Amino acid sequence: MTPQQPPMPPKFALPGVKHVLAVASGKGGVGKSTVAANLAMALHMYGQRVGLMDADIYGPSVPIMFGLGTVDQTKTPFPIVKQGLKLMSMGFLVEPSQAVIWRGPKVAQAVGTFLAQVDWGELDFLVIDLPPGTGDAQLTLSQQAPLTGAIVVTQPQDVSLIDARKGVSMFSEVKVPVLGIVENMSYFVGDDGKRYELFRAGGGRKLAAEIGVPLLAELPIDPRVAECGDTGEPIVSRYPDAPVSLAYIELGKTVVNTMLQQPAPKGLPEVQL
Ligand SMILES: Nc1ncnc2c1ncn2[C@@H]1O[C@H](COP(=O)(O)OP(=O)(O)O)[C@@H](O)[C@H]1O
Ligand SMILES: [Mg+2]
Repeated sequence: MTPQQPPMPPKFALPGVKHVLAVASGKGGVGKSTVAANLAMALHMYGQRVGLMDADIYGPSVPIMFGLGTVDQTKTPFPIVKQGLKLMSMGFLVEPSQAVIWRGPKVAQAVGTFLAQVDWGELDFLVIDLPPGTGDAQLTLSQQAPLTGAIVVTQPQDVSLIDARKGVSMFSEVKVPVLGIVENMSYFVGDDGKRYELFRAGGGRKLAAEIGVPLLAELPIDPRVAECGDTGEPIVSRYPDAPVSLAYIELGKTVVNTMLQQPAPKGLPEVQL
């Protein structure tokens, strides 16, 4: 007798959205939300129409990263447009402390609502900040959302890489192409201009080669990343000349070029860079 498979969750259609991109990580704290927000911003800088959906119901960070908080649901049309991006997050609806008590099915329902009932309109990219980890909740979300690609964020050290590997296998299980790995906090450039590798160097590169996906970016540590994350404007727009911002802009270009090679759903105009 084969073990009973859980029922497949319904897949939501997003007919106006060309590319739905998940940003995932094997564990929390690696910079997934920061990457999702700055990537969304970088895509916008390339003239793309971009939405950013915060699917991290327990630890929403889109509101704080964009200088927002809870809003009056009866008066606010969703998604909220800020800095040129269309944003949706559980953090607009409830204080983060309240969401913690929710159970899995309610979380899936909330994310389903974001996908089905939020008027995303026409977008070139919808970036989804997935909850950290590779458990059932993440798997369900990856099945519910009509994902066209995924990016896995990791840090250079071994423990993060093990988790990142799990993230990559989760997407292959649900047949979502992994565009590549983003290694965050790869190095630090000192005042002396020297590059310091605080964790073990080259982990992301090794992992990417082993799995056979591209290493999309190696992002340096910059204290201004955290400062910007806490004060409402992603670093890529506040300090566009910072080395980490340049790396994000390059990442945006790679993502646009990669996704343009994939056919867009019918009925939408091609976007030229
Ligand atoms: N490259 C970086 N340099 C410095 N701080 C960073 C960098 N990337 C992320 N951070 C900071 O690390 C913390 C965790 O990042 P976050 O994006 O919230 O992680 P996650 O979503 O994976 O839990 C945040 O305070 C963020 O501002
Ligand atoms: Mg996060």
